[in-house]
Amino acid sequence: MVRIHTPVQPTVKEKSDDYRQHVETGIDALLPPAEKRPVRLHQAMRHSMEAGGKRIRPVLLLAAADLFPKQSDPVPAAVAIECLHTYTLIHDDLPALDNSDLRRGRPSCHCAFDEATALLAGDALLTHAFHILAQSYAEESALSCGLMQILSYAAGSTRLIGGQQEDIENEGRVASADTLHYIHENKTAALIAASLRMGLLFTQPEAGQLDLMELAGGQIGLCFQIIDDILDATSTVETMGKPVGSDAAAGKNTYVALHGIESAREMARSHAKQALEQVQQIGGNNKFLLQFIESLEARIS
Ligand code: IPE
Ligand code: IPE
Ligand code: MG
Ligand code: MG
Ligand code: MG
Repeated sequence: MVRIHTPVQPTVKEKSDDYRQHVETGIDALLPPAEKRPVRLHQAMRHSMEAGGKRIRPVLLLAAADLFPKQSDPVPAAVAIECLHTYTLIHDDLPALDNSDLRRGRPSCHCAFDEATALLAGDALLTHAFHILAQSYAEESALSCGLMQILSYAAGSTRLIGGQQEDIENEGRVASADTLHYIHENKTAALIAASLRMGLLFTQPEAGQLDLMELAGGQIGLCFQIIDDILDATSTVETMGKPVGSDAAAGKNTYVALHGIESAREMARSHAKQALEQVQQIGGNNKFLLQFIESLEARIS
């Protein structure tokens, strides 16, 4: 009798753990060693990078890169996006911004070190993200340039930093629904959309597929930030590894503050649903990405 072995498909958790493992190894290999001069700066960079974030953006990047066949290794790009994201968290936690003393279950960078070092560790991670893209893909200039173009635009003053600026400017006063949308779309959704587009770029996509991915990323990003706001209002510091209740205390404009928890949850669901439809339309090997998007909507930490 001939036995036919059908390969066992990894679960969404197994697959994302596998992607995360590649990211952790990449982070260790691509960041300057902790003992390299200036030691305090490199320790601070690693303190925040190695604290074990969820690695959502790099996993999205790697999953998008696996939709179609590719020639180059996307792991350095995944590390670059995590460097950029971690810099935004270090700066977001500074006393001048959200003044938060806990991040990823550890003292925030400025608490573990000092404000000046945290500011500089953030600066260094931002620059290092682009150095990784320039260096790791030096032999493929179109890919390298394309990745840098997507990331620099998403992280710039009209997108991520613009969202952070309006988040801070509107603290303590009730913003319009339009402003709230602007803040979320830019401070969070821009980088999530960039992760997916950067991943897809490895597969020589058509322009229409990149456009669809931008739309899907925007929807995932809005869903992700709405859930972050809900968890700030409903979760615990132990589960989140960062303070909770801080949005209400700081008078932040969130979907929870403006629309209430139930409506916010409904909106998150609707954004996730649109993203799933758009990723379906892109096609390819999208089973994991679809499941991962569902898991982001259902997340509890
Ligand atoms: C926190 O991002 C900031 C937001 C955009 C909500 P994450 O929730 O992805 O944080 P880490 O990377 O897992 O720490
Ligand atoms: C952070 O939004 C977005 C960026 C860091 C760009 P939040 O301020 O809500 O993130 P947390 O809740 O501190 O992680
Ligand atoms: Mg903030
Ligand atoms: Mg914050
Ligand atoms: Mg938050």
